Amino acid sequence: MTRILESSDAPSAGADTKPQLMKAIAVFPGRPDSVHLAQLPKPRVSDIPGGRGVLVKVLRVGVDGTDKEINAAEYGAAPEGYDFLVTGHESFGRVEAVGENVTELRPGDYVVATVRRPGKSLYDLIGTYDMTTDDTYFERGINLRHGYLTEYYVDDPEYIVKVPAGLKQVGVLLEPLTVVEKGITQAYEIQRRLRVWRPRRAAVVGAGTVGLLATLVLRLRGLEVTTFGRTPRPYLNSDLVEALGARYETTVDLPLVEGARKHGPFDLIFEATGFSPIAFEAMQALGKNGVLVLSSVTGGDRKVEIPSDRINLEFVLGNKVMVGTVNANREYFETGVRDMAHSEADYPGWLARLLTHPVKGLENYAELFDKLTHAKGAIKVYMQVAED
Ligand code: BGC
Ligand code: ZN
Repeated sequence: MTRILESSDAPSAGADTKPQLMKAIAVFPGRPDSVHLAQLPKPRVSDIPGGRGVLVKVLRVGVDGTDKEINAAEYGAAPEGYDFLVTGHESFGRVEAVGENVTELRPGDYVVATVRRPGKSLYDLIGTYDMTTDDTYFERGINLRHGYLTEYYVDDPEYIVKVPAGLKQVGVLLEPLTVVEKGITQAYEIQRRLRVWRPRRAAVVGAGTVGLLATLVLRLRGLEVTTFGRTPRPYLNSDLVEALGARYETTVDLPLVEGARKHGPFDLIFEATGFSPIAFEAMQALGKNGVLVLSSVTGGDRKVEIPSDRINLEFVLGNKVMVGTVNANREYFETGVRDMAHSEADYPGWLARLLTHPVKGLENYAELFDKLTHAKGAIKVYMQVAED
């Protein structure tokens, strides 16, 4: 389906100047399979008050399960005043222009933008908008704010993080990496309760983009890692796990709880399968004093039977912790950049191997979503919006 939005449908940029139009990939939230090409006025540096605008030319945008759910009408909302939502939250671009009061960035810098924008809670006010307690949250490309699958965006430098030019080939992986950085940082913060915590063994459940990036970050922290996936080895994902010096196991042969007996005890488990029943298996696979990080956004309504007495008893007797994690604030983007550099030093070329499925040109939105839903062996599907 294609719909071109006339400039008269969109908020006008001023009666005297005719805005330049640009293409964008959008959906009509609530209508399944509504991905289409829209047109929007090109943003300007002056859209952000106080001379604080940063205009970014979009180069690449990754897509993930969240985008799949948004196009399936299971998730996502349009900004106020629009019936469509520009999708895309995993951005990578180059600064084109900055306002007179921007000192942090300059034209030519490579950048990635954060996803969530602050609401009203205390956590939002101190820059930790990823921890908001507001019921309504604002996320570019996901909820109530347009995203990055377009030619340009403008924002405040507070939400834009510089990526060194040496990482430009893999910069589009920064946003999914930040989700991992937040989860693992939070786990370490929580474990300060133990006074002394020397985690040795970790399990990652799920071997998709987030699972692979969690394996990387835990290896960079020096842990022995076992990554569990569904697909039997060898295949690209298990090769990538092994290239990090981690172990790959398929849950078909070795269910998680048995895996813990064989390769544990696990001091930390990072769950990233998108399949909620596994969370309860992970609870049973966690070692004493361990921490379980849950990161799967599961929009469905699935129900399962679980051995509740046993899970509860072992959690209580083992002083275990389980924590949910979503989104990431600026701090985790900065940590992510450092870990990307660390990764290139320890495992050169590893990150680029995740970029399996490029699609060129916003007009090929159908191909992008087709690959996202159907491509066999895909790790990261992304749109090459423009050449550098
Ligand atoms: C995004 C996060 C976001 C979450 C929930 C994920 O796909 O990467 O930034 O907070 O979806 O909307
Ligand atoms: Zn995402």
